Amino acid sequence: MSRHPPTHHSHLLTLDAVSRPMLHQLLDSATHLATLPAAALRAASRIDNCVVCTLFFEPSTRTRCSFQIAAWRLGATVLNVDAKTSSTQKGETAKDMFRNLQAMGVSVFVIRHDQENMVSGLAELADASTTVINAGDGCGEHPTQGLIDMLTLRQLKGADFSQRRVLIVGDIAHSRVARSDVTALRCLGVTDIRLCGPRVFLPNDERFARCQRSEELDTIIEGVDVIMMLRVQHERMPADLFPSLTDYCQRYQLNQARLQRAAPDALVLHPGPINRGIEISDEVADGRQSGILRQTANGIAVRLAVLNGYGGAVCTP
Ligand code: NCD
Repeated sequence: MSRHPPTHHSHLLTLDAVSRPMLHQLLDSATHLATLPAAALRAASRIDNCVVCTLFFEPSTRTRCSFQIAAWRLGATVLNVDAKTSSTQKGETAKDMFRNLQAMGVSVFVIRHDQENMVSGLAELADASTTVINAGDGCGEHPTQGLIDMLTLRQLKGADFSQRRVLIVGDIAHSRVARSDVTALRCLGVTDIRLCGPRVFLPNDERFARCQRSEELDTIIEGVDVIMMLRVQHERMPADLFPSLTDYCQRYQLNQARLQRAAPDALVLHPGPINRGIEISDEVADGRQSGILRQTANGIAVRLAVLNGYGGAVCTP
């Protein structure tokens, strides 16, 4: 079996375009590349000496740093362009910035933007030797985070996804992570997906069809074996949409008492950044059932696979 994921889609914009075998293949590649010693990883690299550019129009810690580390380990040259310190401040558009960086020889763009269609719009400007990886587009998708969450689930809960009972809690309506996760969970055969949050945070789009919904965490949590917590994304909503913070914490915070209502070994995930004391208590975030730092570590593995797979298809150093 080839160690490289298929590369007939030259951009990674959404997990919708990824089939179940391809998804597993990406996770296999992530697992394999993450265990290679430095010299063997360089030998397996398909982007050695290529230029990878992280182009971020929104804040990031985990996503940008792990792409950067993965690209370094694969021998690429990394440019970090942050809109806050770039010519965006002088009025340059994202499209012009993309065209200019492409003219400098960037092969792989890792892009985050607050508008939902901007990353795919930029991908339309790419030539045959350039690939675009979506690192989060507004409320749209965050495909590499979806892959990280599936890798973490596969490692800690096994490869048979069909028996999983997954609960997503919090600001689902504004979450690109939830959209990529639900797409990937469905693709891998999960049928029991539950959504919980105040009514204004429960999504209406088609992607969440067939998910059970509730505003009552204490009941919907019963028996689930995976709980994905989400941050309240204040930056994506008008200030008056959010219910009172005290009320939110009382009803939706995952604390130890609530966690005990789930299956005995339920796994707790959170893509980060966590807001301690709001959606999650310290004891749960740092507790035995937390897979949060495993997700972070898996960020490097997944980004090695994605850079080598998608980047490798276009890079000619
Ligand atoms: C998420 C994002 O940016 O969508 N973070 C991440 O990439 N791990 C979630 C969030 O910002 O709450």
